Amino acid sequence: MKAVAIDGPAGAGKSTIAKQAAERLGYIYVDTGALYRAIGLYVSQRGADPAGEEEVAPLLKDIRLELVLTEEGQRVLLNGEDVSRRIRTPEAALNASRVAALPAVRAFLLELQRGIAERSPVVMDGRDIGTVVLPEAEVKIFLTAAPEERARRRLLEHQQRGEQADYQTLLEEIKARDHADSTRAIAPLRQAEDAVLLDTTHLTPEEAIQAVLNLVKRGG
Ligand code: CDP
Repeated sequence: MKAVAIDGPAGAGKSTIAKQAAERLGYIYVDTGALYRAIGLYVSQRGADPAGEEEVAPLLKDIRLELVLTEEGQRVLLNGEDVSRRIRTPEAALNASRVAALPAVRAFLLELQRGIAERSPVVMDGRDIGTVVLPEAEVKIFLTAAPEERARRRLLEHQQRGEQADYQTLLEEIKARDHADSTRAIAPLRQAEDAVLLDTTHLTPEEAIQAVLNLVKRGG
């Protein structure tokens, strides 16, 4: 299967690296975290508890998600509305992590993600792409970096968007989310046995992109 699966914790550089690698390979980039974030947003807008399966499950049938490529880059549409910016807040990240622990949500997105990968070659990033979503991917990468470096990168992202953010708070959020993502019962964050570990703590984005492209060239 012509697919590159990139998994790893928050802030390891997945989206930057996956996006660039996809562009250079001519594959479609699929940011699966954005899908979980959009569901978290929808659920909280409807006043439901993002951690409550019986409240969230009935809402899923009302959700239509699309990833569209525009001149401004990839946008996430939730029932036709562009929510790309609104899903990037720390609260949205937390809600994403909560809905992501629900089996109904994971089943719903599994179908959507596999459907996209069947139609086109993809670089897909997330937490369980190599382990659950695309076990047949040609290349699997587990992208990681030290928590302190990941928090520093998140801080830069916020600053570039002109938002206030505090390093210590971001570091704590990252550690809390790592813990929640790795210890949940369903599809926890873990390295697939056949995935290549890529630690980006001391790599520039370009070096990390090259490492990914080399793996694809070699066929994993
Ligand atoms: O960008 P960042 O790494 O902060 O997070 P993200 O990739 O946007 O994902 C947000 C949350 O969605 C994560 O903390 C996970 O709990 C969840 N997620 C998941 O469970 N499985 C995926 N394939 C992607 C995201």
